Amino acid sequence: MTQSELADYLQAQRTAIDRALEQFLKVYGGQTQAVLKAMRYGLFPGGKRIRPILTLTAGEMFGAKQKELMPFACAVELIHAYSIIHDDLPAMDNDDLRRGEPTAHKVFGEGMALLAGDGLLTEAFHLISGPEVRRLPAELVLRLIHELSHAAGVAGLVGGQAVDLESENKDVDLATVEYIHVRKTGALILAALRIGAEIAGAKTGELRRLSKFGEYLGLAFQIADDVLDNIGETIAGEGGESGRNELKKATYPSVVGIVQATERLQELLKLCDRELVSFGESAAPLRAIAKHVIARAVQDKGRAAEESIS
Ligand code: IPE
Ligand code: IPE
Ligand code: MG
Ligand code: MG
Repeated sequence: MTQSELADYLQAQRTAIDRALEQFLKVYGGQTQAVLKAMRYGLFPGGKRIRPILTLTAGEMFGAKQKELMPFACAVELIHAYSIIHDDLPAMDNDDLRRGEPTAHKVFGEGMALLAGDGLLTEAFHLISGPEVRRLPAELVLRLIHELSHAAGVAGLVGGQAVDLESENKDVDLATVEYIHVRKTGALILAALRIGAEIAGAKTGELRRLSKFGEYLGLAFQIADDVLDNIGETIAGEGGESGRNELKKATYPSVVGIVQATERLQELLKLCDRELVSFGESAAPLRAIAKHVIARAVQDKGRAAEESIS
């Protein structure tokens, strides 16, 4: 898959996801509460939609139909949107900007941002336990809800965010950094992939390899995000978006430096590729996505290293 084919592919998936999210939120169309406005603000215009795309891509790779996958893909994005609204709150990372715009609490106030996050998280599970999923066997749906709530909960995103918070302004080792990353970011990415494959009925061995791929990709995703934040901070005139950069956070760049962080990214890309070998051409989109996620941070390596030195 060439870069331009990947760009078209991602754009098409994003458009389908945005349409479905709009459709699902229409249920509340007649209501004008501030909380709905704040929820929509966190969702539209969206970011990269990488997690729901992973659900569609993994599912389609094993033969599922987009219609079957979409409610789960949307639920994953609703959970992601909640997590970043809360992550940006003054009590957490205290960020003023998200995707180049004022964060939800800056626009709607802290209380409403808190509730918007609660609303997005709750609606995610409302969506995948209702009529939208009736085409799928009830036993499968129950299993997927169980898996997704596990990834979003204490063993996953919430637990990772809690240790991230506790580690602020402390000296942490690399094992702790990875512990945080795997949970706060990796768990939802892994679940997004697995859910797609499970809806498609992937076999145990296939699911195992896809899961390894997902673990590497989830970790790489957070390292790449932190490298990009760090580059934004160090390049003159480009100022990082994160207020949290004023705090000492547990990240790869802050613990081992930008050069080692990008080396780790390259290593993770190799590991990702290795897990996909047996899937052949059918894994072309996943392979291209992994490369894309990692390359956006690695490409700037020389530039970032130079800036850190000067
Ligand atoms: C940002 O995730 C938060 C992290 C887990 C690093 P994304 O980079 O996927 O955010 P958007 O939705 O595309 O803006
Ligand atoms: C975000 O991590 C993880 C979750 C929201 C679960 P970060 O705090 O590193 O992400 P950004 O830099 O704010 O997007
Ligand atoms: Mg954070
Ligand atoms: Mg943050």
